[in-house]
Amino acid sequence: MEKIKKILIPEADIKARVRELGAEISRDYAGKAVTLICILNGASVFFADLVRELDLDVRFEFMSVSSYGSGTVTSGEVKILKDVNYPIEGKNVIIVEDIIDSGCTLSYLKRLLEQRNPASIRVCTILDKPSRRKVDFKGEYVGFEIPDEFVIGYGLDYDGKYRNLKDVCVLELTED
Ligand code: IMP
Ligand code: MG
Repeated sequence: MEKIKKILIPEADIKARVRELGAEISRDYAGKAVTLICILNGASVFFADLVRELDLDVRFEFMSVSSYGSGTVTSGEVKILKDVNYPIEGKNVIIVEDIIDSGCTLSYLKRLLEQRNPASIRVCTILDKPSRRKVDFKGEYVGFEIPDEFVIGYGLDYDGKYRNLKDVCVLELTED
């Protein structure tokens, strides 16, 4: 069983930070076209908010990935469940993710997409748990660094639930 322990990042703080990230990205890519890749399902809520803060020529793409097993595969190889619809060669790509935890998913995905010769590729995540890294990985745009706690809400789930919560909350797993 699980229960919501506390609010870690309230809705108002998320909104303010997303606005800042949008302004920063808009400045960095001024005058350029950008292909934003939303990593489903977790980044969907952040993506929808972020794109509306961008004053840029943007295209949307969606990818769905799943990690192989849980902890058993140290390579951090991920399975592509859904790929982008259009080639990213020569495009300025920004991968939009919900959270960087071990770093395995994004380091694999970024390397995979780099092989397709985009003009540039960066990562934007709303949450980052740097203390949990298994591989060295840094996102260029990070909303909040958070402690090593399991969080839900604002797109993040536990067992498929809680993605619709407006705040980022800490989940507590109980015995029964
Ligand atoms: P990675 O460990 O950096 O590869 O993160 C892989 C995925 O684990 C993320 O995209 C999330 O979907 C999930 N994840 C990591 N930490 C949390 C959390 O605290 N709550 C919900 N999902 C998480
Ligand atoms: Mg995810």
